[in-house]
Amino acid sequence: MRTGLIRHSQYMELLRSVPSFKALTEDVLSKVADVLEETHYSDGDYLIRQGATGDTFFIISEGQVKVTQQKLANEEPVYLSTLSRGDWFGEQALKGEDVRTASVTAVGDVTCLVVDRESFRQLIGGLDDVSNRTYESDELKAKLEAEAEFFSS
Ligand code: CMP
Repeated sequence: MRTGLIRHSQYMELLRSVPSFKALTEDVLSKVADVLEETHYSDGDYLIRQGATGDTFFIISEGQVKVTQQKLANEEPVYLSTLSRGDWFGEQALKGEDVRTASVTAVGDVTCLVVDRESFRQLIGGLDDVSNRTYESDELKAKLEAEAEFFSS
């Protein structure tokens, strides 16, 4: 379905405000606004579960999310970060292997703009900020990928 004009301009306003998207042209931003899906979450909902496979990239439109990570099985998840309007996440599973490296949960009501893998690849994934983002927790990604490989073979 075609996004309504008002919605489209609201999406454009948010997308333009994301520092990492500065290099995207209006035309590309408009395509992102056309393909994204607006999703809603309540306090405590999981947007992403660590270890699951994933195909989606998220931009926060309203509210806050908490990123946590379990370093070892049977250990309590460790708090990593809180993200809010204009922040994005979920890119790690879209690079190479599709395993989620952390869990992301809603803190209160949250609205996200969600982009699927193919649109991400075509429109956003090439940005330096996005493709080069790494976290201190990256060795875990290697471990999860090795596990995923093991269980799929
Ligand atoms: P992905 O692995 O697809 O799903 C979980 C997301 O949490 C991950 O992509 C990153 O976008 C984000 N993430 C992972 N580690 C951190 C961190 N240390 N700080 C903030 N966000 C993170």
